[in-house]
Amino acid sequence: MSERIYIFDTTLRDGEQSPGASMNLDEKMQIAQILEEMKVDIIEAGFPIASNGDFEAVSEISKNIKNSTIAGLSRAKLPDIDRAWDAVKHAASPRIHTFIATSPIHMKYKLKKNEDEVLEAIKQTVTHARNLCDNIEWSCEDAGRSNLTYLYKAIELAIECGATTINIPDTVGFTLPSEFSSIFKAVKNNVPNIDKAVLSTHTHNDLGLAVANSIAAIEEGARQVECTINGLGERAGNASLEEVVMTLKVKKDLIPYHTNIKSEYITKASRLVSSITGFSVQPNKAIVGANAFAHEAGIHQDGMLKHSGTYEIMTPESVGLIKSSLVLGKHSGKHAFSEKLKELGYDFGDNALMELFGRFKDLADKKKDVYDEDLIALAGDKSSSYNEQIKFVSLKVNAGSLEKHEAILSMIVEEDKKTMKSSGNGPVDATFNAIKELTNTNFRLKLYQVQAITAGTDAQGEVTVRLENDQLSSQAKGSDPDIIVASAKAYISALNRLIFKQSKSIMNKKSEIQIGGV
Ligand code: KIV
Ligand code: ZN
Repeated sequence: MSERIYIFDTTLRDGEQSPGASMNLDEKMQIAQILEEMKVDIIEAGFPIASNGDFEAVSEISKNIKNSTIAGLSRAKLPDIDRAWDAVKHAASPRIHTFIATSPIHMKYKLKKNEDEVLEAIKQTVTHARNLCDNIEWSCEDAGRSNLTYLYKAIELAIECGATTINIPDTVGFTLPSEFSSIFKAVKNNVPNIDKAVLSTHTHNDLGLAVANSIAAIEEGARQVECTINGLGERAGNASLEEVVMTLKVKKDLIPYHTNIKSEYITKASRLVSSITGFSVQPNKAIVGANAFAHEAGIHQDGMLKHSGTYEIMTPESVGLIKSSLVLGKHSGKHAFSEKLKELGYDFGDNALMELFGRFKDLADKKKDVYDEDLIALAGDKSSSYNEQIKFVSLKVNAGSLEKHEAILSMIVEEDKKTMKSSGNGPVDATFNAIKELTNTNFRLKLYQVQAITAGTDAQGEVTVRLENDQLSSQAKGSDPDIIVASAKAYISALNRLIFKQSKSIMNKKSEIQIGGV
């Protein structure tokens, strides 16, 4: 019998800490629900002290999710721990996850504490947490760069004070798999009470080694893996859930461990997280990239026709990717449309479906064939549930090499229809200037990216926009056969998110809580 590995998903916490990737309550709930459906063991729902929005999301998720343990993160501070407990206490299975840094560089410069002071903080905070909750995870932040002898002491103390899971993070993505596995081995051999806790791994991808490090940790005793959908997370991201799960599944003869994850939900979860956060998945991303199961070279296609095992080490179906050749067009009916959406992993209620069907018909009027990718973009726009204060209405631009670049843009701004004519250095600049003037905003444009959703000159363009000011950032996508319209939609969507974040003043709290890799 292979041993079970517990999957701890932190998309809603570490994932949300990616610059621009914040989510609202409804979006977090949608993600939590799909994580529960796919049988994630532990969902880290947020960092309750960080903001009222985080607190509310963790509480709501705790009240609604019944089959996964819900964890709330807290620093090694008593008010953080109380706040985390207040948020997770509604859960059928609550967990407090508390952490403090143990590396010399973090202790000296960030915490301004010496080793003994950090040990004292561990004693007080883990004891306090355990008095509130039976399920306590303790993390030694930046363990990858910590002194091993000190790490043993800190871990032993955390377990003595009641920690039930010990998480060893490679916070800055610095270790090699061989180094990381020797830390686990050393901890197992040198911490006398280590058998009283579950060992966990939490890795970042700064050197592209997060998944390899997680697997190395499992081989040396980790029985919980912390990961995120699409590898979302601080800086270069966290270990990706789909890669960890499928590695264990595909390589089960060499690494005899299993998870309870229903891997057929992977594609659906990946698309949901991408459309909610506005973070596209790179085409060649393992497991969930658009090309992960595409075979281009003639020799590969020939092999695939003879036996799919020639070039596929897992089936697309095993990750929930169902490819069908049915292409929709303007004569397709509602039934075919809704069946196709289900096949792609989307299940909308009647009202949402009708609205989407109308948008599909508009698209099909402009574009002969509507492909899966077009529908994913349509459905992705629909999954966004921001209370849109600003809505796109229409756009006319003067473009080309002979014209002055001008945009005449109409939008609904707080229920009033407003129109503005602006000029700029190109049609996109003119359009963005019109949005800024109409909304009286001027955020920095940090990212502007255009890509074609499918092949062909009538393809829809998908635009990604990231806006930011000194404390906040938000990212969003927009799609349309006209790339200037897609650009306007993406900008407006990012703006709505930013306005939402500002209104919740997440930024004040988040900037107070700058915690190294967290
Ligand atoms: O990267 C890290 O160290 C973390 C901890 C809070 C587990 O995210
Ligand atoms: Zn982290």
